Order: sequence, then structure tokens, then C-alpha cells
Amino acid sequence: MKYFLLPLGCATNKADAERIAAVLESIGYEKANSEEEANLVGIVACSIRQSAIDRVYGKVHKWNKRKNTEHLITFVSGCILPTDEKKFLKTFDIVLKIDQIYTLPSLLKEYGTALPQSFWEIAPKRTSTFTALVPIQNGCNKFCTYCAVPYTRGKEVSRPSSEILAEIKQLIDAGYKQMTLLGQNVNSYGLDKPKNEISFAELLRCIGEMGDASDRRLWVHYTSPHPQDMTEEVLDVQAQYNSLAKYLNLPLQSGNNDVLKKMNRRYTREKYMQLLDAAHAKMPGLTVSTDIIVGFCGETEEQFQDTVTAMQRGKYDLAFIAQYSPRPGAMAERRFEDSVPKSIKKEREKRLTEILKETALQNNKKIVGTTIPVLVETHSRKSGKMLGRTEGLKSIEFVGNSSTIGNFVQITITDCDAWRLYGTLA
Ligand code: 5AD
Ligand code: SF4
Repeated sequence: MKYFLLPLGCATNKADAERIAAVLESIGYEKANSEEEANLVGIVACSIRQSAIDRVYGKVHKWNKRKNTEHLITFVSGCILPTDEKKFLKTFDIVLKIDQIYTLPSLLKEYGTALPQSFWEIAPKRTSTFTALVPIQNGCNKFCTYCAVPYTRGKEVSRPSSEILAEIKQLIDAGYKQMTLLGQNVNSYGLDKPKNEISFAELLRCIGEMGDASDRRLWVHYTSPHPQDMTEEVLDVQAQYNSLAKYLNLPLQSGNNDVLKKMNRRYTREKYMQLLDAAHAKMPGLTVSTDIIVGFCGETEEQFQDTVTAMQRGKYDLAFIAQYSPRPGAMAERRFEDSVPKSIKKEREKRLTEILKETALQNNKKIVGTTIPVLVETHSRKSGKMLGRTEGLKSIEFVGNSSTIGNFVQITITDCDAWRLYGTLA
């Protein structure tokens, strides 16, 4: 009995796939080396954009053809919109709600022993021995009008802090070097249980204390915060502890206040920039990324210009720039027309990418000549060199050997382009 899992989309889905793998292995399934070798195949779907959903249909179509000649069980989990769920029930053998992963064995008519009762109790089957994804929250109450997540993952549920801290302690003891705390809206961590749960800033403080107390280097990242709920306290705590990585992904989405309002983002460009300035002031050398949507319903050229100037002002190192894609059932899809032509969305994406290329390059040039710690990730077959990441998650290539994978090395930066640093072992 072999399984193959395909997580699509964001890191949350990868973390969910690690938990699904753990459940399958607890009932005797083994990981297949390839999709073809598996007799149980599953997708952890992403509903953020239509292209990701199209991939799900493409895969299941192929798998269903295989069923003519072999015994194959198919399932889908992850972020699924109600309209897709109806169709998936007809095309997949099993549609698994992500917060009910623990029912998978009974759905498969297999029974393991002492199965966990909740999603969080499942210990993930880690895919790395040095970097780990740690979910702290599931779901979202924000209802940004373009977004599918509140409909696919439901309302916000915070994971008990005791469990998060225990998992992080275990990871530190096992020698993990980098961890990412995951949630759709991490700043509202704990708010769903105000009486007995700590806030996100307090959670970060506990993690920072634990990380700094260990005698080894540790980088803890978090994603994603929401500018509406982001506080200076969170930034202060992040600045205070060495183990809290100096990296911030602060999604802007649009630089125009009317568009932000229509997106139901509940902050202004001015409030966003104030936060960004505060973050830079508290953490010199901070690496910053953002998320932007271009071509949202009715976005005019003038409104888009505000995103252009915001991108220039933000001087980002990295940005996830997406063309707006209507999600069935989300507020914008029901209330507003997807009126910006595809060709204009494409062109706006290109214009922002050009700005990003320039700011990222300027930022990278500033660190050429310095020596910095790098976590070595892999060996590049293409260039024959080693690939790693900086504390700010910048990609770096250098000459070295595979024995350093999973460890920190000191690298002197000798060159750069917009998307990568190049260096030599110091
Ligand atoms: N269309 C395009 N991009 C989207 N995102 C979320 N929903 C949509 C959509 N309907 C982007 C946002 C978010 C990131 C995870 O995906 O920028 O921050
Ligand atoms: Fe979607 Fe907005 Fe929630 Fe992020 S905060 S998951 S964009 S609804």
C-alpha cells in the first residue's frame, strides 16, 4: 500500500500534507517514490486562483483514466470551495475536510490503533530534517472580498499555545534550524479564545525566549500577518530576540485606499506605510516581502498608479504579485464585475515586477561584500553549486560541498542579481 500526495499552493497546504502523510503511515501506508507507483493518490488543493483548481481537475482526470486498468483510490483535501466540493464528490473517491484528517483511516475502511481525535494532535511526517512548518491557527475571519479562504477553511481556530510551544521545543531538541509559524492571519492568534489564550505577541515572546536560550542559532519566521491587526508590540518582540528572524511578509494587496476598501482590507495605505517604517526602524537590515493583487474589479489605471508608487516606496525584496482571479462564492465574485481585461492584468503584473526587480537588486547590492550566516538547503544539479537561504529568506548560491546541507555556514557575498545572491565560504 503506497501513497502519493500532491500539495498545491501555500505552505499551509504543505504542512497539512505532512499531517495527512503521518495518518497514512500510522495505518501502514508507505510513501511512493512516484505517482505511478502509488495505489492511493491525493491532492491538497488550493482555491486561491482558478489555475490551481484547474490543475486538480487535470490530475483527477488522469487518475480516473488509470482506474480502467488498476486499483487506485483518489482523494482530495485542503482548501475547497463549496461549488468545487460538489463536483469533487463526483470525481474523487474521497473528499476529506482538512480539519477532519483523522477520519481518513475510517474513510479508507482501515483502522489503526489509538488514532488522534483532532487535527492538531497528529504529529506530522516531516519532509525536512532541519526546516519545519508549525501551524498555529487554521481558518480566517477577515473576509477580504476577493478571497476563498474563509469559505474553504472556515472560521479562525487557534491551536493551543501549549501544543505549539511543545512542538517547537521538540524541534529545537531534534536540532531543527529554521521554523515557520503558519496561520492565515497570525496577528489574530488567540483572539478566538480570549479568556485562556495568549496573544500572538506573547506567543512570539515565549518562542523567542526558548530559541535564544538554546545554544545554537535558530531562525523562526511567521506568515502571514494582516496590517489591520499588526501591532508595534509584535514588531518589538521580533526585534528583541535573535531567534526571531528579521524577515517580514506584510501583504499590501493594493496601494489605493478605495481599492483597499472594496477589498475589505480595513487599513489604509498610510497606516500600512507607518507599520512598514516602524518595522524598519526597529529592525535595521530587515528583509520585507509583500502580496499584491493587480486588476481587482474595476481597478482604474489611476488607482493602479497608487500601487506602483507604493511598490516603489516599499522597496521590497520580494513580492507575490497575482492577477485577480474571481473565486466562486467569495464576496467580490457575487457583488462586483471582473471588469479588468486579462491583457491589462498581465501588463500591470509586468510593470510591478519591473519595479520589484529594481528595488530587490538595489537592496541586494547593499549586502555585497558582507559576510552573513546562510542555512544550506540543497545542491543545485544545474550549476553544481550549493543553494541556501539567508535569515531574510533570500536565495543564495555558493561553492561548497553537500555535507553542509542542513547546517549554517558563513558566506561572503561577492555578487548578486535581483533574485539571488552569490558568494563564497568565509
Ligand atoms: N485572486 C488573486 N490573488 C489572490 N490572492 C488571494 N485571493 C486571490 C484572488 N482571488 C492572493 C493574495 C493573498 C495571497 C495568498 O494570494 O495576494 O495575499
Ligand atoms: Fe484571505 Fe484576507 Fe483571510 Fe488572508 S486575511 S486568508 S486574504 S480573507
